[in-house]
Amino acid sequence: MATLAILGCQWGDEGKGKLVDALADRAAWVVRFQGGSNAGHTLVVDGEKTVLHLLPSGILRANKTCVIGPGTVVHMGTLLKEIDELRQRNALRGRLLLDYRAHLVLPSHYILDALMEKKRTIGSTKRGIGPCYADKARRVGLRAADLVDLEHFERRVEQHLEASNARIQELGGRPMLTAELKNELVDQARRLNPYLADTVQALHGALAEGSNILFEGAQGALLDIDFGTYPFVTSSNTGIGGVCTGAGVPPRHIQRVLGVLKAYATRVGEGPFPTELADELGGKLRERGSEFGATTGRPRRCGWFDAVAARFALAVNGVDALAITKIDVLTSFRKLAICTKYRIGGQETDHFPARLQELELVEPVYEYWDGWTDNLKGIQNRAELPAPVEAYLCRLEELLEVPIALVSTGPDRDALMSWGPDPWEGAS
Ligand code: IMP
Repeated sequence: MATLAILGCQWGDEGKGKLVDALADRAAWVVRFQGGSNAGHTLVVDGEKTVLHLLPSGILRANKTCVIGPGTVVHMGTLLKEIDELRQRNALRGRLLLDYRAHLVLPSHYILDALMEKKRTIGSTKRGIGPCYADKARRVGLRAADLVDLEHFERRVEQHLEASNARIQELGGRPMLTAELKNELVDQARRLNPYLADTVQALHGALAEGSNILFEGAQGALLDIDFGTYPFVTSSNTGIGGVCTGAGVPPRHIQRVLGVLKAYATRVGEGPFPTELADELGGKLRERGSEFGATTGRPRRCGWFDAVAARFALAVNGVDALAITKIDVLTSFRKLAICTKYRIGGQETDHFPARLQELELVEPVYEYWDGWTDNLKGIQNRAELPAPVEAYLCRLEELLEVPIALVSTGPDRDALMSWGPDPWEGAS
């Protein structure tokens, strides 16, 4: 048996989907444990692009059992659309399992997310994530378990819509038309019933049988509700703790953690971003890296690699090995900068501040590295990398004190190079 968690270690969009897809070839199970359709995992297989929001990224490989775990929040319409789009390519019945405990993102959550966003700007994806997790914490949420008995579900939906309409009106919104929505939701509930399961029981069975399991993170460490740049975060635990609470698997069963980091940094939405380049270099990174949100299409803010923030993320999540993605995007920059320390109020520090007020004062301390002009497309072997690429990656490894396992040189499934230890290594 081997288990591997793949976690984003910046502000999301690190390219986790591609890594999960690639490493899933050795897994029997792929498990999403938190978040919802705020995630957008882009996969390119044989030149064909697929963007997944809720389905685990292992779904593109046949014979993998894919789990949408207890800690996720599920918008039924989005999930059904993804299932319909993929059904032609893969038979999903029996290999897609939605846990009874997962909470449902309902239309009211979308409306409340948009209304709340008007009052305080977080830059939310407006996919209802915050309001749904809030209902979960308030113990008034609806869960996938409520879908089993359709009459019961209809009653729960009625109560929920009524209560939500009151809150929507309080926030100055227009109430929802409950009758139509109720019918639509009941129809969706009927269609999702075949996928419902107790995935905790199923996963423990898989562990006992010695199956290989891959846990697929969404968003990134710096968007974690506890360890991220609060309040500019998402509403779930995106890190290693989320694997335990969101999949129902104890820590001793998480054998290896692969941290995914882009070779530079991006952030979508509001909040502090110490190495942001609000100039034409940032624009060049955005252009070259196609840095536009996979879920919302919003332009991502871009900047240099931040080793201070990354070290914090790796420490909190106990990362064993790294995957560095999008190194090809840095081609054609004359000089590259890496932030090695922060300067706050004239004092240098390598500590990532917990206080937002302090984080906003950060001046990055940079060191500069030579760029390269070579096209990295097709390079599969570390020895063939141009010397400045090797030097840049070695410096990241040195600063982060975690070995690099894989380097991604392009969006395609095959554009992935082994650099150091096999990420599954030691996980058995
Ligand atoms: P929410 O998760 O939609 O509530 O958004 C909260 C914050 O997390 C916003 O800044 C979003 O832009 C950000 N966010 C949520 N999901 C993702 C993601 O998958 N990638 C990058 N940023 C995300």
